[in-house]
Amino acid sequence: LKHLLTIDGLPRDIITHILDTAQQFVGVAEREVKKVPLLRGKSVFNLFFENSTRTRTTFEIAAKRLSADVLNLNINASSTSKGESLLDTAANLSAMQADMFVVRHAQSGAPYLLAQHCPPHLHVINAGDGWHAHPTQGLLDMYTIRHYKRDFTQLKVAVVGDILHSRVARSDIHALTTLGVPEVRVIGPRTLLPNGLEQFGVRVFHNICEGLKGVDVVIMLRLQNERMNSTLLPSAQEYFKSWGLTPERLALAAPDAIVMHPGPMNRGVEIGSAVADGAQSVILHQVTFGIAVRMAVMGIIAGNNG
Ligand code: CP
Repeated sequence: LKHLLTIDGLPRDIITHILDTAQQFVGVAEREVKKVPLLRGKSVFNLFFENSTRTRTTFEIAAKRLSADVLNLNINASSTSKGESLLDTAANLSAMQADMFVVRHAQSGAPYLLAQHCPPHLHVINAGDGWHAHPTQGLLDMYTIRHYKRDFTQLKVAVVGDILHSRVARSDIHALTTLGVPEVRVIGPRTLLPNGLEQFGVRVFHNICEGLKGVDVVIMLRLQNERMNSTLLPSAQEYFKSWGLTPERLALAAPDAIVMHPGPMNRGVEIGSAVADGAQSVILHQVTFGIAVRMAVMGIIAGNNG
């Protein structure tokens, strides 16, 4: 693996190798072990052209725990505001001896462009591009599911909400089907589900109560307001009434079902606080696992210069 740009097409054995490697880093992520020297002498550049709390910070922590030097480019204070192109920005940062770019961008495909034009020694990790992909979120979601449920081949997993605009949904669906989950359900209003989802082997539900029946894992997604025409936006109250995860709706899932959310959550819109903070929520554990998974991805990629 030279770059990580998407989960689509990533073979099951590579995904499993990343999850197994992450398991070895959990002690470092949870600070039982301080650091490992895997990326000593390497420079990781975080290039976040879109806002982030979890992804940017956990990449920084992960890189530091691997002993790398980390630089966070402040995009708002950078020369992109003077019209410098993405490729010129990247070429200049590459001239500062970057070894790895972690890239988030509003344009789908931006990390691919960088991967095509970067020098051979430089690795690119997609930290979320437009509506397209968020591979490390998909991987940390798979790590979380495996941690709590062990066997992917016995599970029913529901992804609920704004699937249309969600790069997380796309990455999760590719990962879940590759790992052999026999029943992946997507639940949401017709306006927020892309056409042709069935070709990916998922079951589509337009009623949340029907869709949640008996599932082992519930992945909630927020409304991606920033990617929608504001005239089409439902009100928070309307949306919560039809699609929000409440304790009553969660009771339709398996009794030991776990609740996940990539964050940021909008409480009272797609999820109620009683569920977000409830006993079945593993949302904050996802964040901690994200450090170990990102350590694994960076460690594996840095070890491959082919
Ligand atoms: N899950 C996720 O991508 O969160 P951030 O936008 O805070 O990075």
